[in-house]
Amino acid sequence: MRALAHLNKYLWHYKWRIFFGIVFIIASNVFAIYAPRMIREAFDLIAESIKAYQSGNYQDFELTLPVTVRYIYEFLKIDQGGYQNITSTDQLAEVITRLSLILAGLYLLAALLKGIFLFFTRQTIIIMSRLVEFDLKNEIFDHYQSLSLAFYKRNNTGDLMNRISEDVNKVRMYLGPAIMYSINLVVLSALALYAMFSVNVELTLYVLIPLPILSISIYYVSSLINSRSEKVQRQQSHLSTLVQEAFSGIRVLKAFNRQRATQDHFEKACNTYKVDSLRLVKVDALFMPAIILLIGLSTIIAIYVGGVKAIAGEITIGNIAEFVIYVNMLTWPFASIGWVTSLVQQAAASQERINEFLHTEPKIKNTNPTPAEIKGKIEFSDVSFVYPDSGITALNKIDFSVSKGETLAVIGRTGSGKSTIANLICRNFDASSGQVKIDGNSIKDVNLDELRRAIGYVPQDVFLFSESISNNILFGVENPDNPDEVVRHAAREAHVLHNIEEFPRKFETMLGERGINLSGGQKQRVSIARAIAPNPKILIFDDCLSAVDTETEEIILGNLQKIMKDRTTILISHRVSTVELADKILVLDRGEIIERGNHRELIQKGGVYFELYQKQLQENKKVEQE
Ligand SMILES: Nc1ncnc2c1ncn2[C@@H]1O[C@H](COP(=O)(O)OP(=O)(O)OP(=O)(O)O)[C@@H](O)[C@H]1O
Ligand SMILES: [Mg+2]
Repeated sequence: MRALAHLNKYLWHYKWRIFFGIVFIIASNVFAIYAPRMIREAFDLIAESIKAYQSGNYQDFELTLPVTVRYIYEFLKIDQGGYQNITSTDQLAEVITRLSLILAGLYLLAALLKGIFLFFTRQTIIIMSRLVEFDLKNEIFDHYQSLSLAFYKRNNTGDLMNRISEDVNKVRMYLGPAIMYSINLVVLSALALYAMFSVNVELTLYVLIPLPILSISIYYVSSLINSRSEKVQRQQSHLSTLVQEAFSGIRVLKAFNRQRATQDHFEKACNTYKVDSLRLVKVDALFMPAIILLIGLSTIIAIYVGGVKAIAGEITIGNIAEFVIYVNMLTWPFASIGWVTSLVQQAAASQERINEFLHTEPKIKNTNPTPAEIKGKIEFSDVSFVYPDSGITALNKIDFSVSKGETLAVIGRTGSGKSTIANLICRNFDASSGQVKIDGNSIKDVNLDELRRAIGYVPQDVFLFSESISNNILFGVENPDNPDEVVRHAAREAHVLHNIEEFPRKFETMLGERGINLSGGQKQRVSIARAIAPNPKILIFDDCLSAVDTETEEIILGNLQKIMKDRTTILISHRVSTVELADKILVLDRGEIIERGNHRELIQKGGVYFELYQKQLQENKKVEQE
C-alpha cells in the first residue's frame, strides 16, 4: 500500500476537484435517500385512505397522513380552499389522486437531482483521475528518457511499455473509481443507515446481515477476475509480440519458408489465450448473480421481518417498501467494498512496479548545470572500460588526444572496441578507470546537454524514425531559422540529395512502416545528414560508410572534408580507404591500441595496418577486374 503514497502529490495538486467531488457525492446521496421516503409516504397514504374509506370517517383523515403528504395537504387547503371537509368518497379520491401525483413528481425531482449531482461527481473525480494518469505517464516517460543505456539493456521493451500503459491504467482505477466509490460508500451508508435505524433498529439489523457476506464474496470474485484477466492480458501481449515480430521479420520468414511453423506457433499461443479467456468468462459470469442473490436475500428478510412487525403495528406498510429500496441502494456500495479492495491491491502492485523504475537513478547524471560552449578537444588517458552486464573488457588502457579540428580515425577488427570509444565520448557510459576529457575537463564535469548538443553522431546501426525525410534530418536541430535550407544543405553534403529528389514527394517522403524503404546505403547517408544538420563541434562516424560502394565513399568523404575542416572528427571504420585522410589513425585490437600514426607512417612501419591496406587494395583490384 505504501507504494501508492507516490500519488499523494497529485492528489494534493488536484485537491479542489476532490473536494468538489465529495460535495457532489454528498448532494447526490441526499437526494437519493429522499426517494424511498416518497415511496413510503405514497404507500402509507394509500393505506390510510383505504382505512378512511372503509370506516367512512373522514374527519381525522388529515391527522393520519405522513409528514410530507400532510404538509402538501395543508398547502393545498390554503391554496385552493376546497379540502377542509372531505364529505364524499369522490372528494377523497380526488384528494388522494392529487397527493399521489405530487409525490410522484417529488420522487422524479429527487431522482433527477441525484442524477445531476452524480454527473458532476464523475466530472470531477473521474476527470481528476484522467489528469493524474496524464501527469503520471509524462513523469514516467520523462524519467525513462533520463535513464542510461545500461538500464535499457537490462529491461525489455515490453516491460517498459507495460508500466507506462497497463500499470498506469490500474493506478488510474484506484484514483478514479476506487476513490469515488469509497466516498460514496461512506456517505450513502451513513445516510441510509441513519434513515433505517430511525425507522426500526431490529429490522435494520436483520436486513444488514447479508451485506458483509456480499462484500466478502465480491472481493473473492473480483480477485479471481483480476488474476485471470491479468493472465489473459499477458497472453494478449505475447500474441501481439508474436504478430509484430512476424510482420517486421516477414522477409526473413518467407525466405526461410517458415510460414507453416509460424502459423502453428501462433495457433498454439492463440489457443492458450482462448482457454484463459474462457476461464475468465466463467468467473465474470458469477459477478452479477452473486450480487442479485444477496439482494434477493436481503429483500426477503425485509419483507418477512417487516411484515411481522407491520402486523404487530410497530411499523407501517410504507416502511417495508422503503426498506426494500434501501437494501437495493446499499447493495452496490457494499459490493463495491470488495471490488474496490481488489482494485486498490492491484493499483498498489502496479504503482510498486512503476516506482521501481521511477526510483532507478540514471547512472549518467548531469553534474554541471551551467552550459558552456564546447570547443572540441578530446583526450583519453589510461581509459579502460568493462561492460557492466557482460563483464567484457572492451577497452584496455587507451591513450590518445585529438585537438579541435583534427580528424582521428579508429580502425580495427570487429569487436576490437571501436564503437565503445564512440560510446564513451557521447557519455553513454562512463569509463571504468582512467579519464575521458573534453577541452581539458573531465567529461563528467561537462554539462551533459551541451556535450550531446556538440556531438553529431552517426551510429553504426542506423535508426531512422517513421517520419518524413526532412523531419529525420532536422531531428537534432533546435529551432532552425530556415529548415528547408538546412535540410538541403545537409543532404547535399551527405551525398543523398540526388536520391531524395528522385522521390515523388522529395523531402516529404515518409520513411518506415507506412512509407518508403530506403536502401542500406541511403539510410546511412540520411543518418549522416542528420548528424551534420545541427552544425556540431564534434563529429563521430561509426562505420557509417560500410554500406556504400568505394566510389560513393570517396564522394562523401570529399564532401565531408569541407565540413570536417574545423570540427573534431572521430572516424571509425574497417576500411583503410576511409581512414587514409585522417590526421591520426589508431589501430585497435582486443581493446588495445597496437599501432598509431598517420597513413604514411603506418604504411612505412609495415605492420598490421600495412597488411590490412594491401589486402584491401587487392580486393578492390579484384572487384575492378571482374
Ligand atoms: N552493450 C554491450 N554490452 C556488453 N558488451 C558489449 C556491448 N557492446 C559491445 N560489447 C562488447 O564489447 C566488445 C567491443 O565491442 P565494440 O562494439 O566496441 O566493437 P567494434 O570494434 O565496434 O566492433 P564492430 O566493428 O563489429 O562494430 C565486444 O567484445 C562486444 O561483445
Ligand atoms: Mg562497432
